[in-house]
Amino acid sequence: MNERDWLFRCIVLETVAGVPGMVAGMHRHLKSLRTLEHDHGWIHHLLQEAENERMHLFFFMQMRNPGITTRVVIGLGQAVFLTGFNIAYVISPKFCHRFVGYLEEEAVHTYTKCIEALDAGRLPLWQHTKAPSEGVDYYGLDPEKAMMRDLLLSVRADEAVHRSINHHFSDIPQFYEVASDKIQVVEPGYRIDQDDSERVPLNMLLDDGMAAAEKHEVEKKPVTV
Ligand SMILES: [Fe+2]
Ligand SMILES: [Fe+2]
Repeated sequence: MNERDWLFRCIVLETVAGVPGMVAGMHRHLKSLRTLEHDHGWIHHLLQEAENERMHLFFFMQMRNPGITTRVVIGLGQAVFLTGFNIAYVISPKFCHRFVGYLEEEAVHTYTKCIEALDAGRLPLWQHTKAPSEGVDYYGLDPEKAMMRDLLLSVRADEAVHRSINHHFSDIPQFYEVASDKIQVVEPGYRIDQDDSERVPLNMLLDDGMAAAEKHEVEKKPVTV
């Protein structure tokens, strides 16, 4: 695959990846309105996930403008996936978050393959390509030094968070609280607890949350990403 093929693959992938967060967020928003119950922080995360995927799309769109055939395929793909995922989310949100967790794992795998191809010299154009300006702004990269590889690493880090959090959503009870202002993102893969300033790896926090949920210790552990 050359650079052009990778852009096609990434653009198509991101148009699909942006759907689940919006559908799940909408369902939980409507359920909160309908049941007059708090959502405990899921809606905010899910809508942010959808927005994050849409930003990925436009980083790559800065480098390739898909033709009419691709646009038709994307439109048809969205119609099918949106319908299927919408129905599936009504039936089993747990199944849907597990499915998205594996979908995101596939996205991590895809970007890893792309970075490997870049490092192996199979994408010579991108070895000298600066990161797209929208990506530089979004991730706060150095506009002078940021290269395509830096953008791919940042996008892959996002996908890894989507993977972990969707598996987490599938593991925990549906109304387990995930929002708290005690924890903030401080750097990719890490969050900080303002009380004791202890840096805790993301996966460890997620594992703790899952273990607590399994034991039904619903102690409102914060896991906002
Ligand atoms: Fe993405
Ligand atoms: Fe993703």
